[in-house]
Amino acid sequence: MALQGLRAGESSAWKKLVLLLSLVAIMWRSTLFLVSFWGYIAQCYPATSSSYQGTLGLERPDDWERYVQSPARNIVSPVAIVSNYTQGNITNVDSLLTGQGVTTLTRNDGDTIPTIVVDFGRNVVGFLSIQFGGAYNSTPGIPSIRLAFSETLEYLTNVSDFSRSDNQDGQKTTPGSDQIAVESDPYTWTDTHGCEFEGTKVCADGLHGYRYVKIYMDALPADAPYTTSYGSVSISSMSLNFTGFLGTPDTFTGWFQSSDEQLNQWWFDSVYTNDMCTDTFRENDTEPRGAYSPTLDGKLVIHDGAKRDRDPYVGDLAVSALTSYLSHDVPQAARNVLADLGDHQRSDGWIPPASIRDYTLPLLDYPLWWVVCSYDLYMYTGDTEYITNYYPNIVKVLDTFYPSITNTTTSLLQKGLGVSAGYGDYAFLPRTGPVTYYNVLYVLALNHAASIATFLGSHDDDASRWTARAENVSDAVNGELFDTSVGAFWDGTCGSSPCATHAQDGNSISILSSVANHTTATSILSYLSSAMARPYGNAFYDNDVLAESYSQRVYAFISMYGWMASNEPGITAWEGIGPNGSKYEGAFTSLAHGWSTGIVPALTNNVLGVTPTGPGFSSYNIKPIPGDVQWAKGVVPTPQGPIAVYWDNSAWTQGVFFLSASAPDGYNGTISVPVTNSSVSVYLNSRLVSGGETDTGVKVVVEGSYASMSVSGDGENTITVGYQGGGKREL
Ligand SMILES: *[C@@H]1O[C@H](CO)[C@@H](O)[C@H](O)[C@H]1NC(C)=O
Ligand SMILES: *[C@@H]1O[C@H](CO)[C@@H](O)[C@H](O)[C@H]1NC(C)=O
Ligand SMILES: *[C@@H]1O[C@H](CO)[C@@H](O)[C@H](O)[C@H]1NC(C)=O
Ligand SMILES: *[C@@H]1O[C@H](CO)[C@@H](O)[C@H](O)[C@H]1NC(C)=O
Ligand SMILES: *[C@@H]1O[C@H](CO)[C@@H](O)[C@H](O)[C@H]1NC(C)=O
Ligand SMILES: *[C@@H]1O[C@H](CO)[C@@H](O)[C@H](O)[C@H]1NC(C)=O
Ligand SMILES: *[C@@H]1O[C@H](CO)[C@@H](O)[C@H](O)[C@H]1NC(C)=O
Ligand SMILES: *[C@@H]1O[C@H](CO)[C@@H](O)[C@H](O)[C@H]1NC(C)=O
Ligand SMILES: *[C@@H]1O[C@H](CO)[C@@H](O)[C@H](O)[C@H]1NC(C)=O
Ligand SMILES: *[C@@H]1O[C@H](CO)[C@@H](O)[C@H](O)[C@H]1NC(C)=O
Ligand SMILES: *[C@@H]1O[C@H](CO)[C@@H](O)[C@H](O)[C@H]1NC(C)=O
Repeated sequence: MALQGLRAGESSAWKKLVLLLSLVAIMWRSTLFLVSFWGYIAQCYPATSSSYQGTLGLERPDDWERYVQSPARNIVSPVAIVSNYTQGNITNVDSLLTGQGVTTLTRNDGDTIPTIVVDFGRNVVGFLSIQFGGAYNSTPGIPSIRLAFSETLEYLTNVSDFSRSDNQDGQKTTPGSDQIAVESDPYTWTDTHGCEFEGTKVCADGLHGYRYVKIYMDALPADAPYTTSYGSVSISSMSLNFTGFLGTPDTFTGWFQSSDEQLNQWWFDSVYTNDMCTDTFRENDTEPRGAYSPTLDGKLVIHDGAKRDRDPYVGDLAVSALTSYLSHDVPQAARNVLADLGDHQRSDGWIPPASIRDYTLPLLDYPLWWVVCSYDLYMYTGDTEYITNYYPNIVKVLDTFYPSITNTTTSLLQKGLGVSAGYGDYAFLPRTGPVTYYNVLYVLALNHAASIATFLGSHDDDASRWTARAENVSDAVNGELFDTSVGAFWDGTCGSSPCATHAQDGNSISILSSVANHTTATSILSYLSSAMARPYGNAFYDNDVLAESYSQRVYAFISMYGWMASNEPGITAWEGIGPNGSKYEGAFTSLAHGWSTGIVPALTNNVLGVTPTGPGFSSYNIKPIPGDVQWAKGVVPTPQGPIAVYWDNSAWTQGVFFLSASAPDGYNGTISVPVTNSSVSVYLNSRLVSGGETDTGVKVVVEGSYASMSVSGDGENTITVGYQGGGKREL
C-alpha cells in the first residue's frame, strides 16, 4: 500500500496474483513436460512385471544457508566507497571500511564540497551511527555534515530518495537530508528523529531504509547561526543498527531449496525483503500521517515497506504474512496487526486497512483481505484463541458491511452503493460498479469464513449461509461480468456499460477463488499472457482506459524476480515496476516491500507442494508441481514441528518420481505425486500400493495428472512412482 497525498498510491493484492500466475506458469510447463515424458517412456520400455523400488538422490545438498541475505549481526558496516561520487579534500577515505585511522573532510571557502558515498552492499534499514573523531573550525560556527540516503545510485542526490519529512505535510522536520553539528571532541552520533537546537534547527529524520549514504560537508542556511559549511571533520567509523528482523540462518524455521539456483536465491531474497519490513512499531519512525497508534506501540509488526510505507496494511499482509509464517517463528508480527485492526472495526462492520489517518483510510477491498488473512493465520499457525476472539468480527464484516453495498437484484457488490462511492482499493484505482476484483475476492473471503466456521464447530448456520452467498456471487460474476470477446472478465463499469478494460487482479482471483471453471480459467490465462506480458513482468491492466501507463505497470510476480534481482538495489523485492522496467514511482518507490515476496509462498506451496488443509496444518496436502525443476527439498514449520519434503524428478528417463515426506505425530495428510498414466506403479514405503496386485488397504486415487493417497501418523513416508515397465534400476 502506498498512500500519497489525498490518494493512495499503488499497492497490494498482488500476493494472490503472484501465487496464481506463478503456479499457472509452472503448471503449464509441467503438463507439457509430463505428457512428453510418459510418451517417451512408453516407447522406450516395454512393460515387464518387475517393479522399481528404492530411493533417489538422498545426497542432495542441504546447504540452503548460503542463500541467506541477512547481515550477520545487527550492527552493519559499509562494504565499499563509491569512488566516482567521492570528491573534495578528503584524506584516508578507506579507513571508513578498514577501521585503520580516521577519514578527514576539509572545506574552505571556494572548495569543492567534500563528499563521500558509502555502499552498504545491500538494502538495509535502521539507525545510522557515526563515530566522529572530532571537528575543527577556524571561523565561527560548528562544522556541519549532511547525509542523504538512497536505495539506488539512480536516485542518490543531495537529499534522500525518501525521508520521513517527505510525508510530513506542513510540518517537515528536515528538507530531505539529515544534518549534524559535529562536536569538537570524539563522540558517537546516532541518527535520531528531532533537532539539535531550538527544536527546529540542525534536524534529522532518524530511521532510514537505504543502500547508499552520501556524506557531505555543508550547512543549511536555515540552521544558522549554529552550523557552518567550513572547517574539518574526522570520522573514525560508521555503522547501522539494523532494526528489521535479523534473519540469520539459525532463525529459519522453514526453507526451500531446489535444482534451480535462481529460484532458491529469490526465495531467500524475498525472505530478507520481508525481514526488513518486520520491525517494532515505534512512534518516530512509522508513517507520519496519523499512523501512530498507542495500541500498536512497541509491538512487532510487518510494515508495508522498509524505507517508506512504514505502517502495516492488511492487504499487504495477505502476502507478507505467508512469507513470515513460512520462514521464521514470529507469527505475532502478523497477529498483532490483524488483532489491532479487528479491534478498530467500525459499527457498520467495516474494518480499517491500517492505522493511517487514525484508522479511517476508506478502502473497500481490505476488510475482505482481513478475513482472508485471519483464515491464513489460523491455517498456518493454528491460533485458535485469535480466531475464536475475532470470529464475531468476521460475522459482522460479512453480514453487515458487505450486504450494505450489495445490489440485491444482481447479488453483486457494487461500488457506488451505500458508503462505498468514495472508497478506494490497494491502488485507489478509479473503478466503479460491479467490479470483478471486489466480487471474486468476496467469494474467496466467504468461502474461507465458511471453512473457519466449520473448523470451529457450532457455527453451521454461518457456514451454510456464507457458502450459499458465495455461490450466488460466483454465478452472478460468471453471468454478468464476462467479456466473451476477449475471454476474460471486465473490470467494472463506465457509466451503465462495462468499461473496455480488463484487470489482472480480478481475473486472477477469479481462478484462485474457483469462480472461474477450468474452461474459463484457461481462457483468462491465455488472455492475460497474450495481452499483458512485458519484458519485466506482466502488467496489471491490458490498456490505459482507466489511467495512463496502467498497461505498463507491473506488480511483483514470478516473472519479474529476475528483473529485480539484476537491477539496483539488488536482492530486495520492489513495491512496483513502471514503464520500461523503471521504479514505478521514481525515488518514492519502496524497493523493499513485503507484498512483493509472493515467490516464497508460491514456491513452498506449489513447487515443494505443501499447503495446510486444516488449522495449523493438522491436515495438509503435499502436491508438488515440478515444472522443469528436477528436485526440491524444504521444511514447512507447523505448531507441532516441521513438515519436511524432498522430491526428485531427475530420473524421469527411467520412469521414476520419488517423494519422501515427514510430518508431526498425529497429523494426517494427502500426498499427491505427478503421473499421467493411471497404469503406473506407486509404492508407499516400498510397498506396491497401486498399479499391480496390491492388498495394502491404501487407496490411491488417480485424477488428472496426479495419484493421491492419504497418509497419517508421524515418521517418514516415501512414495515412489515408476512406470510399470520401468523395471528396477540403479539410479
Ligand atoms: C559510478 O560508479 C558506479 C559503480 O561503482 C556505477 O554504477 C555508476 O554508473 C557510476 N556513476 C557515474 C555517474 O559515473
Ligand atoms: C586538505 O585538508 C588538509 C587538512 O585536513 C589540509 O592540510 C590540506 O592543505 C588540504 N588540501 C587542499 C588541497 O586544500
Ligand atoms: C540540492 O541541490 C540542488 C541543486 O542540485 C539545489 O537546488 C537544492 O537547493 C539542494 N537542496 C538542498 C536541500 O540542499
Ligand atoms: C520522538 O521524537 C521527538 C522529537 O521529534 C522526541 O521528542 C521524542 O522523544 C521521540 N520519541 C521517542 C519515543 O523516541
Ligand atoms: C539498536 O536499536 C534498538 C532499537 O532502537 C535499540 O534497542 C538498541 O539498543 C540499539 N543497539 C545499539 C547497539 O545501539
Ligand atoms: C442493480 O443492478 C441492476 C442490474 O444491473 C440495475 O438495473 C440497478 O440499477 C442496480 N441497482 C442499484 C441500486 O444500483
Ligand atoms: C441467492 O440469490 C437468490 C436470488 O438471486 C436469493 O433468493 C437468495 O436469497 C440468495 N441466497 C443467498 C444465500 O444470498
Ligand atoms: C464454465 O463457466 C462458463 C461461464 O459460467 C459456462 O458457460 C461454461 O459452461 C462452464 N464450463 C464448464 C465445462 O462447466
Ligand atoms: C520506454 O522506452 C521507449 C523506447 O526506448 C521510450 O520511447 C520511452 O520514452 C520509454 N518510456 C519511459 C517512461 O521511460
Ligand atoms: C488423523 O487420523 C486419525 C484416524 O484416521 C484420527 O484419529 C486423528 O484425529 C487425525 N488427526 C488429526 C490431527 O486430525
Ligand atoms: C499408459 O501405459 C500403458 C502401458 O502400461 C499404455 O498401453 C497406454 O497407452 C498408456 N496410456 C497413455 C495415455 O499414455
